[in-house]
Amino acid sequence: MNPQPQPEVRAALQAAERWRIPTPALHQLEHWSLALADDIAWLVLDRAAESVNTLSEAVLRELDQMLDHIESITCKALVVCSAKSSGFAAGADIRDFRGMASAAAASQLLQEAHRVIDRLARLRIPTIALVHGHCLGGGLELALACRYIIATPNASFGFPEVLLGLHPGLGGTFRLPARIDPLTAVTLMLTGKSVRAARARRLGLVNAVVEYRHVAAAIEAAAADRLPRRGRGWQAPFLEWAPVRKLVARRMREQAARQAPPQHYPAPAALINLWEQHAGRPRAMQAAEIRSFAHLLSGSTSRNLVRAYFLREKLRALGKGQSEVKHVHVIGAGTMGAEIAAWCAIRGKRVTLSDLSPQALAKAVAVARELAQRRLHSSIEQRDAMDRLIPDTEGAGVAGADLIIEAIAEKAEVKRKVFSDLAPRLKPHAILATNTSSIALEALRDAVPDPSRLVGIHFFNPVSRMELVEVVAHNQVDSTTLARARAFCGDISRLPAPVNSSPGFVVNRALTPYLAEAFLLLDEGVQKETIDRAARDFGMPMGPIELADRVGLDICLQVARTLHEAFPQEVPAVPDWLERKVTRGELGRKSGKGLYDYNDKGKPQRADAPPPPAELADRLVLPMLNTCVRLLREGVAADRDVIDAAMIFGTGFAPFRGGPLHYASERGVQNVVQTLERLAEAHGERFNPDPGWAHLQEPIAAT
Ligand code: NAI
Repeated sequence: MNPQPQPEVRAALQAAERWRIPTPALHQLEHWSLALADDIAWLVLDRAAESVNTLSEAVLRELDQMLDHIESITCKALVVCSAKSSGFAAGADIRDFRGMASAAAASQLLQEAHRVIDRLARLRIPTIALVHGHCLGGGLELALACRYIIATPNASFGFPEVLLGLHPGLGGTFRLPARIDPLTAVTLMLTGKSVRAARARRLGLVNAVVEYRHVAAAIEAAAADRLPRRGRGWQAPFLEWAPVRKLVARRMREQAARQAPPQHYPAPAALINLWEQHAGRPRAMQAAEIRSFAHLLSGSTSRNLVRAYFLREKLRALGKGQSEVKHVHVIGAGTMGAEIAAWCAIRGKRVTLSDLSPQALAKAVAVARELAQRRLHSSIEQRDAMDRLIPDTEGAGVAGADLIIEAIAEKAEVKRKVFSDLAPRLKPHAILATNTSSIALEALRDAVPDPSRLVGIHFFNPVSRMELVEVVAHNQVDSTTLARARAFCGDISRLPAPVNSSPGFVVNRALTPYLAEAFLLLDEGVQKETIDRAARDFGMPMGPIELADRVGLDICLQVARTLHEAFPQEVPAVPDWLERKVTRGELGRKSGKGLYDYNDKGKPQRADAPPPPAELADRLVLPMLNTCVRLLREGVAADRDVIDAAMIFGTGFAPFRGGPLHYASERGVQNVVQTLERLAEAHGERFNPDPGWAHLQEPIAAT
């Protein structure tokens, strides 16, 4: 019997088969191997003990050694490729970014990395990057150092650095504009968006897109320097002129500032500056790119965005495992139920959806169709997703479902009634979940026959865009139920945040004092646009007034009432005018009128806002921070990371600040506490600092 090869060996063998790489290797290091066949050298990246190739310091050091070998052998071309099934390379190893002590240390490391990549770029023989799957960031910079790029149809290319508060740092800023239309190049770097192989070919980034079986022929053509190369387009010569670039750069800066304020996100402006000042002069650009990248990397925006990246990874890891959920039954086809059902169907689950109102079901199907069209590329995928979603007026799906998610009105007695009606029809191992935004699970638990299978699976609005899901535990839930609920979130590409039952859980509990403070400011006569501007200036994606309209004033009212009853010291009473608005049907964006009026496209009609006074942002944000500290002290979330992640991915809390508790730590706990004390004196005891601040003095462990 043949022994099964180790996974790493298997991957290398598969790669050898895929690319027909000759084995055994001529030279083998930990992450790279070099082989020779028919006078073509094959340099294969297969990062040890990782499922995805990334460029670490060690990978680049070994590449340097491999280049020594390549220079010592006779060959007519060099192919650089990956042995991983996931793709070519996903970028730099982000873990390395956290170890960087200073801009000087980063700059030194980058210079060394550039020296190695330059060596590859200077080889005299034709060099060919053979790309399948992801080719991102540093991976793309490695490919760009090759004379040709040959891609398989599943390849995708991009520079996502901007999402981490950076720009390309390994030569991308001059090698991409040297290969394709410079404006497209800068736009790709500014947006962080990826392009698929076919588009990359049209842009001239890729020289050939070929099926696996035609790779050998394409390599032969490249080795003989016979692969076509596209020009950079008619604009390129004009953009060599500094005055033209100056004009274009000004427009780019304005556009970039509209997407992300430069005072919070400096990378786009830094990239535009580089291009404006050094385009067409690779040496000068290289030195400036290194300086600028090192500077950004040591700045707080990038550090905090890297932190947010790892927070996401931490939650994602919690969503691993077997959910054993194939069939989901959703009850309630309103704002949330419709999107939950559609999203589950898009992500491959079989879904039945019930509602008392047939009109709500019809609307939900339309919502699902639109979402499928937006999210799925092919019409076959869209049709399959719609086939998986079954409107179910009778609730017949309950009997076959592995998971039932309730998303009906936010009233405990109504939810209890639905749960007790369901009980006799459930499958033995089915999980029963509620999407309640504020009701503690203890208030629902005794309405179900087996509380060990009741869990909160709390989605955020809109489900298709908000990645977070709070998975809510109570003291009678089974740990298997919780693990399955978290794995279900992983199945549908959402991030599970484990929280304990308490009214409002983490996100709504922390958000409500913020919204309530905005309502009090309205009562004091502050203009709504000014309130929203203060929050946006702080870095929130939208202000609290617009957010309340987006969530729905009826939902805000219910949540604020529940939380005021539970925590009267923390959450002010709901203003009468809010109740009257809801009674009049002015529910926010969904009804076309709320605190703002909305146009046909759902855009709020805003007046010009005078600049907010300095205190305004603190009045809004610090109550939220105070509640986060309280949630930690009360054990509603197990640690600071869960709270920070929940607020970033559930509310969009300024990601460049690394989460509310991280922000408090960076600003200085003493400063926050003193400001809260001042606000309490001026505006009331709801600002009294929580005793938990005393435990927050210690620095946050690096995540
Ligand atoms: P919604 O009012 O838009 O929809 C509720 C739907 O449930 C309606 O279509 C109604 O006909 C249906 N329904 C009511 N009783 C029913 C029953 N006994 N059987 C079957 N269907 C029934 O409400 P929305 O906004 O979707 O909220 C639903 C739940 O999700 C609430 O618990 C809410 O707190 C929670 N939630 C809401 C969020 C939001 O932003 N709107 C965000 C996260 C959670």
